[in-house]
Amino acid sequence: MTDTERLQTLDQQHVWHPYTPTDDYLKTKPLVIDHGEGVYLVDSEGNRYLDGGSSLGVNIHGHQRPELNEALAAQAAKVAHTTLYGMTHPGAAELAERLVRLAPEGIDKVLFLETGSSAVETAMKMAYSYWVFKGAPQRNKFVSMTGAFHGDTMGALSVGQMTILKNFYQPLLRETSAFAQPYCYRCTLCQDNCTLACADTLEEVLEREGDQVAAVLIEPRVQNVSGMIVARDGHLGRVAEIAKKHGVLLIADELGVGFGRTGKMFACEADGVTPDILCVGKGLTGGYMPLAATMATAEVFDAFRGDGKMLLSGHTYSGNPLSVAVALASLELFEKDDVVRRAQEMSVILAEELAKFRPVPHVGDIRQCGMLAAVELVEDQETREPFPWDVGVAGRITDRCKELGLIIHSAPNDTIVIVPPLAMTDEELRTMMGILLQATRDVVGSLAS
Ligand SMILES: Cc1ncc(COP(=O)(O)O)c(C=O)c1O
Repeated sequence: MTDTERLQTLDQQHVWHPYTPTDDYLKTKPLVIDHGEGVYLVDSEGNRYLDGGSSLGVNIHGHQRPELNEALAAQAAKVAHTTLYGMTHPGAAELAERLVRLAPEGIDKVLFLETGSSAVETAMKMAYSYWVFKGAPQRNKFVSMTGAFHGDTMGALSVGQMTILKNFYQPLLRETSAFAQPYCYRCTLCQDNCTLACADTLEEVLEREGDQVAAVLIEPRVQNVSGMIVARDGHLGRVAEIAKKHGVLLIADELGVGFGRTGKMFACEADGVTPDILCVGKGLTGGYMPLAATMATAEVFDAFRGDGKMLLSGHTYSGNPLSVAVALASLELFEKDDVVRRAQEMSVILAEELAKFRPVPHVGDIRQCGMLAAVELVEDQETREPFPWDVGVAGRITDRCKELGLIIHSAPNDTIVIVPPLAMTDEELRTMMGILLQATRDVVGSLAS
């Protein structure tokens, strides 16, 4: 038995993998990733793969960046963990100040957490507590967009609106309301003559039940997990305006879009919106450590002052010093490498590469916002009819990509999602998109035969 086979066996005997069909996985010989090198992942047999999904949207500066490795080692030599309950540490104070400087004007406070789900969950508790302290405890409902994904703990799942998760967990979840997502390709509201009617459906929801609503949640600009659904300019502004008109808090979940992905540091900037509460994570540490934050305006924070009031929420590892140290080093790299400007430059190349998919049979929609993109495949390009789910077109394409040296993921509706590490060179980005194009052509060709 080779070392790889031994690890595969141990894994299949004991590791339970998230969001992975059990029997299919047990039939495969799983990939064992041994290490990373820049924008490549290298398996235990020495095969190299471009990390085309940025290891679930977290990798910004590439793997094994010396500056990030050094920051971790330096912090480990001081203290690996200490709490933020009633005390602080230097990194937390420095990072909070830095994040406030980067965030939209008006965001002033930072609560550290570990994951996106916990950041969203905390934002919900924060919004509800805000209304309790303001004397309106009946405001305990949440509204989010159809297709939304905000994480997979119970609260976060409740405000998620992806059918597959919602249908399965429904009996365990809180009731929430939804307004229409900006899915232009499948729009039934204003179709090709966009008036942002999708955003206006929020108005109907809030007219009906606004006085019971604590907050509206939105993934600004791009809904990631449901397949890179890209909102038009002005969409976020319209949603923010409607929420404000009804006196409801706005929670922007920038887990998927923050830290340069859309060509801005934060996606809210594009529409000049300051949400009341802002959730960030994923790329915060450049993909090194789990760290997230729920940020808020001073107006939200001030509701928690006086009479022994506090936010009744927090986790053991919130603000872990190792994570915070690497986040500070990552933000230094943002400046040193001019990451946001670089993302804007690369998005032009990405657009050129995406255009090559247009003539491929079965390519339905191509979406892009900065360095986030998607290719949606359909059975019938005229009617936009999806493939029957059991054809598994997107899965076949991602499998073929793996054979060709690219790790990339799919989303519902046979959509391939493209989330390149922002440290890619132009050449690496073109190579990655070339592999995806070839894999798409191969799979589409095999359907015809
Ligand atoms: C928009 C959004 N919110 C929340 C989450 C949940 O983050 P985590 O997986 O870190 O809990 C994700 C994860 O993909 C996300 O894309």
